[in-house]
Amino acid sequence: MLAPMSTWDPALYQDKHAFVWQYGRDLIGLLAPRSGERILDVGCGPGQLTAQIAAAGAEVTGIDSSPAMIAEARKNYPELRFELTDAGRMAYDRQFHAVFSNAALHWVRDAEAAAAGMARALEPGGRLVVELGGKGNVQQLRDAISRALETFHLPIPESPWFYPVIGEYAAMLERHGLAVNYAALFDRPTPLAGGLGDWIAMFGGHFLAAVRPEQRESFVRQVEEYAGPALWRDGKWFADYRRLRITAARY
Ligand code: BEZ
Repeated sequence: MLAPMSTWDPALYQDKHAFVWQYGRDLIGLLAPRSGERILDVGCGPGQLTAQIAAAGAEVTGIDSSPAMIAEARKNYPELRFELTDAGRMAYDRQFHAVFSNAALHWVRDAEAAAAGMARALEPGGRLVVELGGKGNVQQLRDAISRALETFHLPIPESPWFYPVIGEYAAMLERHGLAVNYAALFDRPTPLAGGLGDWIAMFGGHFLAAVRPEQRESFVRQVEEYAGPALWRDGKWFADYRRLRITAARY
């Protein structure tokens, strides 16, 4: 992950949010890594997908801006290379055959710098394969949290997330010398093993900043009440994920 948050919890991430990299396996199919290729995994988190790319025989570098995630990735896969680097400040220059990123780029504040850095990291003809939250991602969940904040007379914080439409993201990649050859925006309702409370604790720290610790439980109950009609089905909570997938090639 490439969060502006300093408090990523790798244990909670691996225990209750494994779906993040489980869905990402599918994206590795689009990447189709080959033996001997140099591949950059942007926002590698605890490294599960980096390891799967490496299993194809590629030489992978995983980067992440979270020291806790990089420490966990190194612990999980000591044989692989991981670097503590922010996607908005990468300085790679035509070093990679492919750049890959799953569920990370929506956290990068300077999306333009990340696009420029990913393009620069690729050799001519190199390919980009990324998935991030797209326009409308977790909208029902965000609305329920905002309503609960209002009910608690608490301020609604600025969103740390960037959820573009296809045209916006594709145009940005094209400005940096990438030719987009595939793009899709699609819904992926995602069951949450730990319910809404764990999801908010893992990813919505900014929403919780003004909620006092003793209010947290009733705050989550309030969110559940507001989100229930849209996000509770068949005895489970779902997050209304909407994904943007894009692949491109470096000119
Ligand atoms: C996502 O993968 O879309 C996502 C993850 C955490 C927070 C918000 C969105």
